[in-house]
Amino acid sequence: MTAPIAIIGTGLAGLSAAQSLHAAGMDVQLFDKSRGSGGRMASKRSDAGSLDLGAQYFTARDRRFVDVVQQWQARGWVAEWDPQLYQLNQNGLQPSPDEQLRWVGTPRMSAISRALLGALPVHFSCRITEVFRGEQNWQLQDAEGQSHGPFSSVIVATPAPQATGLLSAAPKLASAAASVIMDPTWAVALAFEPALETPVEASFVQGSALDWLARNRSKPGRDARYDTWVLHASSSWSRQHLDLPKEDVIERLHGAFAEVIGCALPAPSFSLAHRWLYARPASAHEWGALADADLGLYACGDWCLSGRVEGAWLSGQEAARRLLEHRQ
Ligand code: FAD
Ligand code: NAI
Repeated sequence: MTAPIAIIGTGLAGLSAAQSLHAAGMDVQLFDKSRGSGGRMASKRSDAGSLDLGAQYFTARDRRFVDVVQQWQARGWVAEWDPQLYQLNQNGLQPSPDEQLRWVGTPRMSAISRALLGALPVHFSCRITEVFRGEQNWQLQDAEGQSHGPFSSVIVATPAPQATGLLSAAPKLASAAASVIMDPTWAVALAFEPALETPVEASFVQGSALDWLARNRSKPGRDARYDTWVLHASSSWSRQHLDLPKEDVIERLHGAFAEVIGCALPAPSFSLAHRWLYARPASAHEWGALADADLGLYACGDWCLSGRVEGAWLSGQEAARRLLEHRQ
């Protein structure tokens, strides 16, 4: 009997690969260092309801992804989000409506990863520190010193900086991953009581510490009791303030938010900050996925393509396709 396939990372890329392999009749086992699935598409439960601190929405442009998103919609995992969209640039804050379809998980972003994971076997709170090959099969070692295996193949579906060490058995793959620079993002959530009086539900922002803000309850299925806003700092601000204490990040981004909205803001009734160290690749690639098919080692993730949700899903599909192609 063939040993199962290990997938390290339960973000959208890892789950996309897992779904494809499972559908082809393969046994998969997933691992994630976090307590739940979703990676950068995860949602955080908080005193102000469930918050999408990472990916805010996604677009679907590739036909294959468009078809999949329609299936997700039919199953109630995602819904269209059509906010009162603004932009702040040198001309000030202005409405910026467009025709783009934007999707969000319902009732929270993490609904998608939870549904995709389904009943697939997974080890959470399990940080893989080593991927090594025995005589015929692969073994994984975790941070607690436990071994897992044997596995016939391994798919590394983590952000590039975390993939490099795990790919050391295939130096070409490791060096491709090492060449990818990923920028950080500081995310802050602020709740206001009473609700802010503004028509803005989301805004792209230029020339500020922020590059994005969104009113969480404008998304379908969210808890409307809380007026919670998610603010994202730009890559450059986040890099410059990487080690700033969370309270200071909250204060600075609260100030930047007031400037964008153009009015004094009350103190928030709830606040939190989260630092995404590897939020987005500094540039896009066209690798699809990385593979050493003879060895049985693969890598996928948003960094292999567009650095977006769609790129992560397509990259997972490509890793699975290459693995299945090699087994035929
Ligand atoms: P991830 O989601 O990062 O998944 C990798 C997983 O690997 C994680 O769960 C992690 O815990 C796990 N892991 C890492 N190392 C190990 C290890 N050693 N052992 C075990 N597990 C490990 N995209 C959009 O399309 N639209 C947006 O609006 C948008 N906004 C964003 C805003 C922010 C703040 C951030 C951070 C990202 C945003 N993105 C957005 C990007 C989008 O979230 C990502 O492209 C996508 O979620 C990446 O999926 P992935 O599976 O490649 O990686
Ligand atoms: P999209 O088409 O909505 O946005 C792409 C970009 O086009 C935006 O960043 C914005 O600059 C511009 N834009 C689009 N519509 C606009 C409008 N109506 N008015 C003014 N500007 C507009 O979505 P796509 O291509 O799927 O991109 C995903 C989004 O995710 C982007 O906004 C990107 O910045 C964001 N992202 C953020 C990350 C982070 O770490 N903060 C990581 C990865 C993606």
